[in-house]
Amino acid sequence: MEVTGTVKYIGADDLTLDLFESQYPIPHGVSYNSYVILDEKIAVMDTVDKRASEQWQKNLKEVLGDQEPAYLIVSHLEPDHAANIGWFASEYPKTTIVCSAKAKGMLPQFFDIDLSERIQVVAEAEELSLGSHTLQFFMAPMVHWPEVMVTYESSEKTLFTADGFGTFGALSKDLPWITEARRYYTNIVGKYGPSVQQLLKKAATLDIARIAPLHGPVLTENLGDYIEKYQKWSSYTPEESGILLAYASIHGNTKEAAEYFADLLKAAGENVELLDLTRTHASYAIEKAFMYDRMILAAATYDGGLFPPMEDFLHHLKAKGLTGRKIGLIENGSWGPLAAKKMREILETMKGMEVVEPQVTIRSTRKEADTKAFEALAEAMKAEA
Ligand SMILES: Cc1cc2nc3c(=O)[nH]c(=O)nc-3n(C[C@H](O)[C@H](O)[C@H](O)COP(=O)(O)O)c2cc1C
Ligand SMILES: [Fe+2]
Ligand SMILES: [Fe+2]
Repeated sequence: MEVTGTVKYIGADDLTLDLFESQYPIPHGVSYNSYVILDEKIAVMDTVDKRASEQWQKNLKEVLGDQEPAYLIVSHLEPDHAANIGWFASEYPKTTIVCSAKAKGMLPQFFDIDLSERIQVVAEAEELSLGSHTLQFFMAPMVHWPEVMVTYESSEKTLFTADGFGTFGALSKDLPWITEARRYYTNIVGKYGPSVQQLLKKAATLDIARIAPLHGPVLTENLGDYIEKYQKWSSYTPEESGILLAYASIHGNTKEAAEYFADLLKAAGENVELLDLTRTHASYAIEKAFMYDRMILAAATYDGGLFPPMEDFLHHLKAKGLTGRKIGLIENGSWGPLAAKKMREILETMKGMEVVEPQVTIRSTRKEADTKAFEALAEAMKAEA
């Protein structure tokens, strides 16, 4: 597959992995991307996951024939990209491995063979000529690992962005990037917004015609739109005025209240998305929490605490560092409702989360008498004009 006449795609789709990073369902699969730049000196851009070794090695051999690459550029050591470095190093003993100083230090943790004599550490903005192509390296610490760097190839204006601008979804599925890019970003990189902002500042100084990430499609058009999404996500800025109404109900009464409240909010002209936390993977809820400016959390009390699917969601959300959202609380309990107190306790440990009053408490089932409280919460949840 061609990226340009001289840049070849040698990555592979994975359509059978159950959970990416043993955590995220990937209904459309994922791709592990790797590229070869053909020039006087050949550069291979990263390797792939061990699940795709065979396909990648075949693709690599097809592109290289009997040529030996001059460089292996390692932008990230996470095993979904670095698993084949060991094989590559013994297959091509003359190839120089190019990476950040941090990556050089971490590499021996992953591989038994001593590669130190073959590593060329590159510094910020350092250039490496391949002939007609010139690579320039920019460090991207904590996007989302410390050793990460991105590579700019100036002759064709391609930015190789490591996991940045990546997305779930196998290339064969040909999905629009946005289908899974937000869920990918918010869950995998979400915590590291400030580091992504630093990288975006560096990228703004480059003339970019093409973004080549380590997962998902190579982006060639409307790059400003993708960069704008990254600006928003990495600064925790909501994309839409709207309310994520996430609920966790055991027997269905909290769910009924959530549905009722969603209708009430919609009737007031709000953009509302209902999400059942008991039957939706937390990664989808994280995605939506980043997307909207407001959130209603509705949960049942459970064993003197919070029903675990809500607790789990809030712990995930906290780990992603989301900040600056307006939140309303609805709790349910039959003898000692505690869910709102427990939700509040977790939210108080997060930055910039504004819990609005009044909270709504229902006892077992929603009653006519609760209407006033719901209406008051709807009023308090209104978007700032
Ligand atoms: C296993 C279990 C534990 C519960 N623990 C509590 C509790 O500690 N305090 C309380 O007030 N209600 C408790 N409840 C009751 C529920 O919070 C209450 O019935 C609520 O209405 C359930 O809402 P739902 O229909 O949305 O599941 C518990 C219910 C279950 C099934
Ligand atoms: Fe990664
Ligand atoms: Fe990755």
